[in-house]
Amino acid sequence: MAEDPACPTDAPTIRVTTMPADANSYGDIFGGWLMGQMDMAAGLVAARHSAGRAVTIAVEGMQFLRPVSVGDEVSVFATLVKVGTTSMTIDVEAWRRDRHATQTSKVTQARFVFVAVDGAGRPRQAPPLARGA
Ligand SMILES: CC(C)(COP(=O)(O)OP(=O)(O)OC[C@H]1O[C@@H](n2cnc3c(N)ncnc32)[C@H](O)[C@@H]1OP(=O)(O)O)[C@@H](O)C(=O)NCCC(=O)NCCS
Repeated sequence: MAEDPACPTDAPTIRVTTMPADANSYGDIFGGWLMGQMDMAAGLVAARHSAGRAVTIAVEGMQFLRPVSVGDEVSVFATLVKVGTTSMTIDVEAWRRDRHATQTSKVTQARFVFVAVDGAGRPRQAPPLARGA
């Protein structure tokens, strides 16, 4: 199996320990649970950037690269990469670490698209992406 590229050095957007309730009957963590954590991380980035409500409109290129086990530490890294008029594109990766070890490996990746919305759920303008951000 190919060597993982280095784990991001920035602080993760979300870091959580997986629990038995998040697993299937084989002890692997549900893909939907991982997607939910990724969606939450991207949502935090979108809400902070747009200073308000933002909703998921699309998830592109979802990949599950390796299984995650109960008790693993999961770190989710979400990075704003593009801003349109109302949309925000956020690259998201999740990394696992056995709670008793130091080595990390990338377990998922996807590109989430959020739309900034007003109180009535209508698209509103998102601030432009800062140069160099
Ligand atoms: C988000 C929502 C308000 C957008 O309304 P809409 O009338 O479809 O909006 P638009 O067609 O003007 O699209 C808004 C933006 O999303 C982009 N977009 C639309 N569909 C897209 C898709 N499938 N993939 C990527 N971007 C998409 C558009 O290009 C546009 O971007 P821009 O303003 O930066 O140019 C509406 O689709 C909605 O409420 N969806 C449900 C959201 C939801 O419940 N999510 C789950 C819970 S958070």
